[in-house]
Amino acid sequence: GLPARVRIHEVGARDGLQNEQTVIPTEIKAEFVRRLAAAGLDTVEATSFVHPKWVPQLADAERLFPAVRDLAPEVRLPVLVPNERGLDRALTLGADRIAVFGSATESFAKANLNRTVDEALATFAPVVARAKEAGAHVRGYLSMCFGDPWEGPVPVPQVVRVCRALLDQGCDELSLGDTIGVATPGHVTALLTALNEAGVPTDVLGVHFHDTYGQALANTLAALQHGVTTVDASTGGLGGCPYAKSATGNLATEDLVWMLRGLGIETGVDLERLTATSVWMAERLGRPSPSRTVRALSAS
Ligand code: HMG
Ligand code: MG
Repeated sequence: GLPARVRIHEVGARDGLQNEQTVIPTEIKAEFVRRLAAAGLDTVEATSFVHPKWVPQLADAERLFPAVRDLAPEVRLPVLVPNERGLDRALTLGADRIAVFGSATESFAKANLNRTVDEALATFAPVVARAKEAGAHVRGYLSMCFGDPWEGPVPVPQVVRVCRALLDQGCDELSLGDTIGVATPGHVTALLTALNEAGVPTDVLGVHFHDTYGQALANTLAALQHGVTTVDASTGGLGGCPYAKSATGNLATEDLVWMLRGLGIETGVDLERLTATSVWMAERLGRPSPSRTVRALSAS
């Protein structure tokens, strides 16, 4: 059966904006986060404390985070940290949910983190331990869980190994990333099954689909049928990864909410308000949202 409720982990302000070439004013980003929360999203990934040269768009994290952190107590504002330097920056500002981000493939670990897979894991170990000591919730992202632009299809056992390592370090949840959007539903089910067989319970797993080949919703449905209840999505379908060629936007939050609403699955999200937020953001970015649901609901 399908779950009664799905937690949407909104990544538009982070995964969505990190790929934008034109630097968006901090105040616009803060307003975006506020509008996302006001539309009923209770988990709004705010920014990344990464090296500013690697992701110039998020170089304003020190100004952005304080502008949104007191939004509402029920709104969770996770932030990405790649290493202890990033963790220090985040904790200083009062962040209480952090995310490390590993890779299932060597090529992407190098491109995204300038590390091997195992060097990246070694970097995360003290980050996760110190974050837990500080009382923070820790998400472990894992990129390239299905296919990699340099290496092709990614063997399931390779993904399972890194998932296990992240959980053993103390991550509270994992997000399985289809960074370049090549997954199809059978592959999703196969990976989730293999993870269960390796002792990973479904309730710590979230899914993170990019929509490059139009498969993100089908993949999400496969994950829901497997029992997954945490789904990452980006309002308006913004997104991509600057260090993964061919990555396009994430699954659009509106497309996800439209499907879940039709299935009678609770999300707490006000779809009309969210669509208005996408239209507002698209005006700021100077191009229409690629989301079919946004286009359908805003056409008049
Ligand atoms: P590096 O060059 O190897 O860094 O980059 P380093 O450790 O050698 O340090 C070099 C300098 O950077 C030092 O300064 C550090 O202090 C500084 P110096 O001593 O030379 O003056 N530094 C920092 N400064 C500020 N904040 C920091 C930080 N760390 C070091 N946190 C590093 C390694 C990890 C820093 C770099 O590769 C990086 O920042 N990468 C981030 C890439 C990124 O953000 N990618 C996008 C997010 S992942 C994604 O989108 C996928 C996801 O959506 C899931 C999916 O779709 O699959 C999550
Ligand atoms: Mg992503």
